[in-house]
Amino acid sequence: MTRPSPARIYDYFLGGTHNLAVDRDFADRAIAAAPELPYGARSNRAFLGRAVQYLTSHGVTQFLDVGAGIPTQEPTHEVAARACPEARVVYVDNDPVAVAHSRALLTGNARSAVLQADVRDPKAILTSETVRSTIDFSRPVGLLLLAVLHFLPDADDPGGIIGTFAEALAPGSYLVISHVSPQPGLDTEQLEQHLRESHTAFMRGPQEIARLFEGWELVEPGLVPPSLWRPEGVPGAQAYRVPGLVGVARLP
Ligand SMILES: C[S@@+](CC[C@H](N)C(=O)[O-])C[C@H]1O[C@@H](n2cnc3c(N)ncnc32)[C@H](O)[C@@H]1O
Repeated sequence: MTRPSPARIYDYFLGGTHNLAVDRDFADRAIAAAPELPYGARSNRAFLGRAVQYLTSHGVTQFLDVGAGIPTQEPTHEVAARACPEARVVYVDNDPVAVAHSRALLTGNARSAVLQADVRDPKAILTSETVRSTIDFSRPVGLLLLAVLHFLPDADDPGGIIGTFAEALAPGSYLVISHVSPQPGLDTEQLEQHLRESHTAFMRGPQEIARLFEGWELVEPGLVPPSLWRPEGVPGAQAYRVPGLVGVARLP
C-alpha cells in the first residue's frame, strides 16, 4: 500500500480506479518524463480487445492471459464473454497486488480464474491446478502476452518461454504479443531511460520481436503499432506515435 505497484500504475494510465495516491504520484512523474505513456497503455488495451474479438471469431473460447495486470477497463473475460458467454480465462501475474485485485474482481465468476505465477516459469503455469482445471488443452487456446515480455531481459530467453507454452498448445491456438519498441520518427530516449530505471523494462526492435513468433503464422497485418492492428476506425497520425509493436499469430 505504501509502494507504487506497476499493475495499479497501469490501471491509472488506463483511467481506472484501482490505484492509490502513491501510484498516481509515481505515474504523474513518469508521464512528465514520457508523456506518451497513458496513450500507449490505452492503445495497447484497445488492441487487446480487438485481438480477443478476432480470436473468438476464429473459434477460440479459452484464454491464458499472462502478465494480465488488473482485469478492468475492457479486460479479456469481458470482451470474450460478449462473443461467447462460455469463454474461459486464466489471468496470471507475478504481482501479488494485481492478483489480489483480480481475485476480488472475479469473485463469483465461475469461468475465470487467477494464478500468481511468473511468466519465466511456463511449466509451473501449465501444470498448475488452476490452469488445468480451467483450460482444455486438447482445444485451441489464446495465449496472451501483452506488455509483459519487455520486462524480461534476453537472458530470460523469452523465445524459449514461448516455445515451452507452444509445446502444450493444440494446433489452431493463437499467440498475441505487444511489446515496447522504438518507432521511426519518434524520440523514445526518455521513455527508454524511464523504462530501464523504473521497471527494468527493455525495448526490442522489430526483428527481435518477429523472432518471438518463430514457429507461428503471423496473421494480417503482421507486426504493427497497436493502433494499426485491424483498427476499427481510420487511424489518425497519432496512431503512429505509440512506441510499441503488436502481432497475432496462429499455431499451425
Ligand atoms: C503493463 S501491465 C500489462 C497488462 C495487460 N497484459 C495489458 O497489456 O493490458 C504488465 C503486467 O505484467 C506483470 N508482470 C511483469 N513481470 C512479470 C513476470 N515476470 N511474470 C508475470 N507477470 C509479470 C506486471 O505485474 C503487470 O501487471
